[in-house]
Amino acid sequence: MKPWLWLSPEMAYQLAPHALRLYTHISKPKQLTWKPLTWRGLTFQNPLGTSGGVDKNAEHIQDWWRWGVGFQELGTITPQPQTPNPGKIINRSAAKKLVWNKMGFPNEGMAQFLKNISQTPRPYLTPLLINIGKNRWTPNEKAHEDYIFGLKALYSTADIFVINISSPNTAGLRDLLKPENLKNFLEPIVSTNLELAGANKAKPLLLKLSPDQSIEELESTLNTSLQLGIDGWILTNTTNQLGHQYHMPTEGGISGAPLADISRNLLQSAVEILGNRKKDHLLISSGGILTPNDVFERLELGADLVQVYAALIFEGPQFFSSVAKSAIRRYS
Ligand SMILES: Cc1cc2nc3c(=O)[nH]c(=O)nc-3n(C[C@H](O)[C@H](O)[C@H](O)COP(=O)(O)O)c2cc1C
Repeated sequence: MKPWLWLSPEMAYQLAPHALRLYTHISKPKQLTWKPLTWRGLTFQNPLGTSGGVDKNAEHIQDWWRWGVGFQELGTITPQPQTPNPGKIINRSAAKKLVWNKMGFPNEGMAQFLKNISQTPRPYLTPLLINIGKNRWTPNEKAHEDYIFGLKALYSTADIFVINISSPNTAGLRDLLKPENLKNFLEPIVSTNLELAGANKAKPLLLKLSPDQSIEELESTLNTSLQLGIDGWILTNTTNQLGHQYHMPTEGGISGAPLADISRNLLQSAVEILGNRKKDHLLISSGGILTPNDVFERLELGADLVQVYAALIFEGPQFFSSVAKSAIRRYS
């Protein structure tokens, strides 16, 4: 029974955090161990985690630990607080297992994010990825400054940073992925990351990619980012190419089942393009992963980690334990 699917998408979105918090009071943190992974000194008890946007303001870290996540991605967080885009910002179709959103990084801003995260006692139970973005009013020529702001503010907190320039809901953001812009945008971010590390190992930087890139564009993005020292990639964000087909507005991004083929194909292409150059880089698959078999398929295609958003909307947070149960049967 999934009573939250009787609610409107907006109402379910508003109430979900309260439901999560309620569960926290009646359960203990648990670690679900299956296919554990150690990468650059970080231990993932299992390779399944939450996607960007699930906990934008770092308010539910401990709540998600109780559901057995292998890692969490927090954010997208921007330097200053900002409101959502105007108008309707979320919709879904349970029949088609589709989510549409046009949020545009609504969040409480870095100062509040830091306050929230400081409530979480260390040592953290799972690795924390923090997804950083730019405010919608920052022009692309200065976008790197917002990302550098994020790096500096969160340096002692994040285990891994995710650079998000693939959301379709911030006007012009994806232009930064274009070959003529990517190098100039990434270079100062990578060099600040090295400076902040000093004599220590630099924090891994991942780039979150768009599903609306051609294979040639993907190849160019991977090559440029590899040369500049990016440590891995998340494939993919939501698509803005399927609105017509699914009777959803063409602005905004679609995720869930309609995205599955696209993000699976791009994962396969990335594995092929990188070949031996993949080495110790991290590949995370996201997009249309809705069943335990979807999780296993992405891992078997070469993803090191897998993450979900739509599955939590349609299956609820017990998705993590049902995947763990199937995984233990499959891999033991
Ligand atoms: C309501 C909603 C909000 C999202 N917010 C963000 C975000 O803030 N940052 C981000 O990088 N991705 C965001 N995403 C994209 C997801 O992280 C994920 O990449 C995408 O939804 C594909 O996965 P899925 O098919 O499991 O939903 C959001 C997705 C949804 C549905």
